[in-house]
Amino acid sequence: MSKKVLAIYYTQSGQLGEIIDNFTGPFAEAGITVENVRVDLLNNYAFPWTTDRFFGVMPDCVLGVPAELAPFELKETSYDLVILGYQAWFLSPSIPFNSLMRQPAIMAVLKDTPVITITGARNMWLNAFVKVKTLIHATGARLVGNISLVDTHPNPVSFVTIFHWMLHGKKDRYLNIFPPPGVSDADIKHTRVFGEDTVRRLNSSQWEGLQDEMVKDGAVRLKYNLMVIESTAGKIFKLWAGFISKRKNKRAWLKVFKYYLLIAFFIWGPILLTIDAVFIRPFSSRRVKAKKEFYLNLN
Ligand SMILES: Cc1cc2nc3c(=O)[nH]c(=O)nc-3n(C[C@H](O)[C@H](O)[C@H](O)COP(=O)(O)O)c2cc1C
Repeated sequence: MSKKVLAIYYTQSGQLGEIIDNFTGPFAEAGITVENVRVDLLNNYAFPWTTDRFFGVMPDCVLGVPAELAPFELKETSYDLVILGYQAWFLSPSIPFNSLMRQPAIMAVLKDTPVITITGARNMWLNAFVKVKTLIHATGARLVGNISLVDTHPNPVSFVTIFHWMLHGKKDRYLNIFPPPGVSDADIKHTRVFGEDTVRRLNSSQWEGLQDEMVKDGAVRLKYNLMVIESTAGKIFKLWAGFISKRKNKRAWLKVFKYYLLIAFFIWGPILLTIDAVFIRPFSSRRVKAKKEFYLNLN
């Protein structure tokens, strides 16, 4: 009997949809039909963003507050594989993805089902992925693969270009000087290799080893410095989100957070990395290895 595959995701710019289309290309070639469902919020975020709206979603993202989704339908009540696309927003799963994971229809189809997660992030997806894993495991699903695509340009460059993209709506070169933002076209096209790896597993239902195979093909590339920044920033964002959510004048505090983020990114971040490079990294190779394994781990 033909295998049933669901690919479900939210995307604002269309980037994650493009990634998923490339990933599922080999499925169609192997005669496997993929039900492709793009979800939206009932009151969708306008794209491009304004600065205020962009920063305005921070507390709800970090605190995991869901929003109402526009109604959507699934053709089946169970699938042989579910592909979940998510994006990182403020080091957390985006509000639309978080909301999707709380839908009874999704929770029902995920139970006892193999799942592959895919993200197209700037470059900081680690904290979000940890939270995504918790949401997935709560449904009783089995995470068998994870693909994390990122903007591979240096961190300060992608910080500038993502704001150009998010605030102007075009994935083009800022000032004609900076590189294009987001996941590169080449990396998006390369996603079909992971699709080929998956089709082979899908036909045999032997999921063990899929993630190792995809990691060898470049599905996840961890960078030590980004791990250091994320583990500190994740805790600080949580404090900010809790603090701002309780304030009456949220707008004013979100502005303060915006300036904090700029200072943290361009001043505290480099200081933190220097301290880490001198005093911590040389003496903690085992801890670094364990941390890398933690982020690669699907459990
Ligand atoms: C509000 C907001 C916050 C974001 N925060 C992060 C982040 O913390 N880490 C990251 O790597 N990318 C971040 N991004 C980029 C997204 O993960 C994603 O790459 C981009 O929004 C394109 O996704 P799309 O397919 O939904 O258009 C953020 C984007 C938005 C809109």
